[in-house]
Amino acid sequence: MSTLTRRELLQCVGASGLVAAGCSDDPVAPVADAATSDLGGGADAGFDAGADAGAVVTDAGTDAARDIPRADAETRSGIFLHGVASGDPLADAVILWTRVTLPEGMTGDVAVTWELSRTVDFAAVAAMGTFTTNAARDYTVKVDATALAAGTTFYYRFRANGMTSPVGRTRTAGTGAVDRLRLAVVSCASMAHGFFHTYRALAGRLDLDAVVHLGDYIYEYGSGDYGTLRGYDPPTEIRSLADYRRRHAHYKRDADLRAAHQQHPFITVWDDHEFADNSWEGGAQKHDPATEGAWADRKAAAEQAYFEWMPIREQQGDRRIYRRLQFGSLVDLVMIDSRIWGRQLQTVGMNPPFNDPARTLLGAAQEQWFLGQIMTSTARWKLVGQQVMMGQLPQFLNTDAWDGYPAARSRFFALLRTMMVNDVVVLTGDIHSSWAMDLTETPTDTAAYDPATGRGSLAVEFVTPAITSPGFPPGVVTNAANALLPSNRHMKYWDLVRRGYVILDVTPTRLQGAFFHYEHGATFAPEAATDTFSAAWSTVPGRNHLERDTMAAAARADAPAAAPAESA
Ligand SMILES: [Fe+2]
Repeated sequence: MSTLTRRELLQCVGASGLVAAGCSDDPVAPVADAATSDLGGGADAGFDAGADAGAVVTDAGTDAARDIPRADAETRSGIFLHGVASGDPLADAVILWTRVTLPEGMTGDVAVTWELSRTVDFAAVAAMGTFTTNAARDYTVKVDATALAAGTTFYYRFRANGMTSPVGRTRTAGTGAVDRLRLAVVSCASMAHGFFHTYRALAGRLDLDAVVHLGDYIYEYGSGDYGTLRGYDPPTEIRSLADYRRRHAHYKRDADLRAAHQQHPFITVWDDHEFADNSWEGGAQKHDPATEGAWADRKAAAEQAYFEWMPIREQQGDRRIYRRLQFGSLVDLVMIDSRIWGRQLQTVGMNPPFNDPARTLLGAAQEQWFLGQIMTSTARWKLVGQQVMMGQLPQFLNTDAWDGYPAARSRFFALLRTMMVNDVVVLTGDIHSSWAMDLTETPTDTAAYDPATGRGSLAVEFVTPAITSPGFPPGVVTNAANALLPSNRHMKYWDLVRRGYVILDVTPTRLQGAFFHYEHGATFAPEAATDTFSAAWSTVPGRNHLERDTMAAAARADAPAAAPAESA
C-alpha cells in the first residue's frame, strides 16, 4: 500500500463520504466527517507513524538513526550476518536459506555445506550437502532439502570458511490425517515505522507449523519518505538490482526478523512494496519510466533480489509465486499473486470499467489455475493466502483491492456457489488493519444473506494487521467505525489502528483466527513489548460463516525445542 498523506486523504474524501476511485490504496480512507474532524487542524505531517507516534524523529536517514539499539544494532561478526531461514515446507522437502558475507576484498565462489538433523545437538545428521554461491546470486544460499520425513521438526546449519551459522529450526508438512495446524499470518513491515515486535513474538511461539507472510516484507522507500523512526540502507528509494539486494540485506540485519526466521519456516508472497508502491504487472503508481527507466527492468531486479533473499521455492523458472502447499488431508494452502502476475492497471481514469468481464486481477492463466485448485481440492480446509482484501467495502471504492476487480471476484464466488465448495478461508494482508468477515456475493441483500446465521455466506476472510506499517491515527477511527459497521453486515470485526498478527489454529472440526495486538505506539519503541489477545473468530465445516469465540486456541503443549539464540 502506498503512503497516503493527509493532503491526499482530504483530496480523496468527497462531500458524499465516498473515496474517489484510485485514491484509497492505503488503509481505507474513512468517511468525510471522521477524516475532517479528526485530521483537521493537525500538523501537516504525513499520514503515517511520524504523525501518530506523537513525536517525529528528525534524524532519520542518518547513520545514528540506523543505530537504534536491539533491533538494528549489529555487533555480530563472521560471515553469516543475515541469519538463516527456511520456507515452503512440503511433506518431504523444505527450502533452507542463508547468505555469506565475505571479508572486504574477497570475491569468488564459496562452497557452503549444510546439514539437517532431528535433534538440536546434530547427534545424527539426516541430510547434508554442499551449495556453491558467488556474486552472481549475491552470495545467497538456497537449498531444497529433499527426501525428508513428513510432519517432522528439523534443525539445520551451514558452514563455510571455517565458520558455522546459527542453528535454524524448521518443519516439514504432515501427511494423511493431520489433526492440527497452527500458522501465524503477518504482513507489512515498514522498518521506518517501528520495531518488529511481532517477529520477536512469533520467534517465541514455538508451537507454530509455519509463518505465512502476505507481503510488504520490505519497503522500497528512501529514508524519511514514509516513516521516520528508522532509516534505510540504501538511504534512497531502491530501483536497481544492487539497491533491492541492499534493502533485503538491511532487513535481514534486524535481529527480531532473524529470530522469527530462525525458528519457523516462512511461506511468503510479495505485495507492492517489494517492487514499488501500487505496482501491477505493467508498472506502478510510483514508478515513472521517463525518469526511472523501464518498468520491466525494475520489476526484474526486484524479482531477482526477492528470489535470492527469500526462502521461497522457485516454481517454473519464470518468477511466478502462485503455488499450493498441502498439509495432509487437513489443509490445502493456495498462495496466489493478486499484485503482480497478470494484474491489470488498478484504475483507468475516473470512470473505470469495473465490471468489464475481461478485467482481471490474477491474469487468465493464474485465475484458471487458482479456480482449478479450489474446485479440485479434497482437503478439509482450503486456505487462500493473498495480498488485497476480497470482501466488499462499498463505501470506499478501494480499487486496489478485489473491489476494483468485481468481475474477477464474482467468478470466484460463482464457482464456490455453483460447485458447492465449502470451507474456503481467505487470508489477506496489505491494508494495515484487522478484519474478520463473511464472504458473500451481495452483503446488502437481506434476502440473500443473513449475517446472524450465515445463510448465503460462501467463505470467510481474515485480514491480518501490519507488523509496523501505519493504520489510521486513533482519533479517526471511532467515527469511521460507527459510520461503517452497521452498513457492512458481513463485517464481524475490525481494528483500524493497532499492529500485530493473526494466529490461525486449524483442526478437522474447527478453524479459528485469533487477533493479537500491541497497544498503539508500542511498536514505535525498541524496548520489548507484549502483545495481547484481542478477538477470535471461528468457523466449522460446512458453515462458511464466522462465529465469535471468547478465547484463542490453547498453545500446543508438545512444541519442539527452540533453536538456540544467536550469539552476539
Ligand atoms: Fe503495506
